[in-house]
Amino acid sequence: LRIYVPGDAAARALGADEVAQAVRAEAARRGVTVTLIRNGTRGMVWLEPLVEVETAAGRTAFGPVRAADVPALFDAGFGDHALALGPVEDIPFFARQTRLTFARCGLTDPLSLEDYRAHGGLDGLRAALPMAPGEIVQTVTESGLRGRGGAGFPTGLKWKTVSEAEGPRKYIICNADEGDSGTFADRMLMEGDPFALIEGMVIAGLAVGATRGYVYLRSEYPDAIRVMHAAVDIARRAGILGAHVLGTGPAFDMEIRVGAGAYVCGEETSLLNSLEGKRGVVRAKPPLPAHQGFLGRPTVVNNVISLASVPVILARGAQHYAGFGLGRSRGTIPVQIAGNVKHGGLFEAGFGMTLGALVDDIAGGTATGRPVKAVQVGGPLGAYFPREKFDTPFGYEEFDGAGGLIGHAGIVVFDDQADMLKQARFAMEFCAIESCGKCTPCRIGAVRGVETVDRIAAGDTAAIGLLTELCDTMRDGSLCALGGFTPYPVMSALTHFPEDFTAPRKEAAE
Ligand code: NAI
Ligand code: SF4
Repeated sequence: LRIYVPGDAAARALGADEVAQAVRAEAARRGVTVTLIRNGTRGMVWLEPLVEVETAAGRTAFGPVRAADVPALFDAGFGDHALALGPVEDIPFFARQTRLTFARCGLTDPLSLEDYRAHGGLDGLRAALPMAPGEIVQTVTESGLRGRGGAGFPTGLKWKTVSEAEGPRKYIICNADEGDSGTFADRMLMEGDPFALIEGMVIAGLAVGATRGYVYLRSEYPDAIRVMHAAVDIARRAGILGAHVLGTGPAFDMEIRVGAGAYVCGEETSLLNSLEGKRGVVRAKPPLPAHQGFLGRPTVVNNVISLASVPVILARGAQHYAGFGLGRSRGTIPVQIAGNVKHGGLFEAGFGMTLGALVDDIAGGTATGRPVKAVQVGGPLGAYFPREKFDTPFGYEEFDGAGGLIGHAGIVVFDDQADMLKQARFAMEFCAIESCGKCTPCRIGAVRGVETVDRIAAGDTAAIGLLTELCDTMRDGSLCALGGFTPYPVMSALTHFPEDFTAPRKEAAE
């Protein structure tokens, strides 16, 4: 009997370790031989721990399973049971996805290279090895892949810049400092399919002539750190990393480095400072990291999802990837659905679905059953969308046109009890806490922003104009996205929900 119990951090937080323990104990008690695999997650967090069992007809799922349910599942022979969900591929939330980057996540044993190869792993690297570096760059360019960390800069163009830059040594840095609220795609990928990231980094190395890579991983992700360390060791022993990639290629090796928990270290130049052992403050651009990055050398800094999407592009061809999407947003985007929703989790699909379809249909509306009031897209620096804007399709330009940003594609849903003034205050407070302090509009502006929102809360509606001016100054004068984008949540809250800023407040009256 082959049983899969996710070892993913979200599943573990919901009791997966206890379920795995119960499966082992129950199997031993009954004298049943069980092969227990701690897979990654399929991304349907509301069904975790999602247990899968191999049957003659394929894998069938049960969830959410508690340890106490395990004896009854054995009694039922993992067949007819109240928690039975049928094949994972048939669960509507899963069936509606296009899984390219996350195709193996939850399907395979994350640390089994055999499993990785059996499900298309290394096909991309094998395709890349005989190609000239320029051809690899060209393939990535033609795929239309854009930076999934948030800014959406064309990955092929970034690689071209690094490949053409002069330098005795070049680097591939993976930004795994996933700090946006409501996002977890990087973590799930690293915990569920770590070799995909390694393969993507090796291909990036071949493309630009880099021989060394680093994954800058946030300290809040201990499971991902452990899995990535183990995966790098396995890849090195298997000759995927080392003096000759896959025995015949040039050298490429990589290391995992752990950050210390500053949000701003997800900003690429702070990240580079931190990686060099310096204080994590933002560097002015130019010079771009592509020209002078890690230790002053030409450096590719890409997000986990950008790099992990590269193998499938090389394996199936640029046109296959570019065949999905909308406008200039090509391929798939792993949307992370969080907040007050019935069905939260990771949903990978081609660009183009509307925000409303994601919230009402795929996420199933709010968990509280109350009407949706607002959806924040793109993390703590993203805009709040009211229902009137739910017809906005997922696409970089489309979201920009609607006054927002996709960012790292996290969406956080709020019901009608959310107080948008408090959310605006939170954005300013977050910026004040996380500011690196290098520039005045952010360092001072965010503190004044909190005070100004408090004045409005106390009934001083004249301060609304001041808040607007302050946001303009922060947007136009900040050195990086932290100070520059904080106005998005603040101004969208003010613009779309003015009543929350002008209505007499209970707290003020008390
Ligand atoms: P940016 O627009 O300044 O740069 C985007 C990328 O393109 C950078 O890597 C930059 O070095 C590169 N680039 C720009 N011009 C180039 C050229 N001519 N040649 C080669 N490379 C070039 O944006 P930034 O500040 O790097 O990122 C801002 C984004 O980060 C925001 O959109 C936000 O959504 C996102 N973000 C993501 C977070 C996460 O947890 N993933 C957290 C916070 C913000
Ligand atoms: Fe630092 Fe804020 Fe200025 Fe960015 S905007 S450089 S985080 S002070």
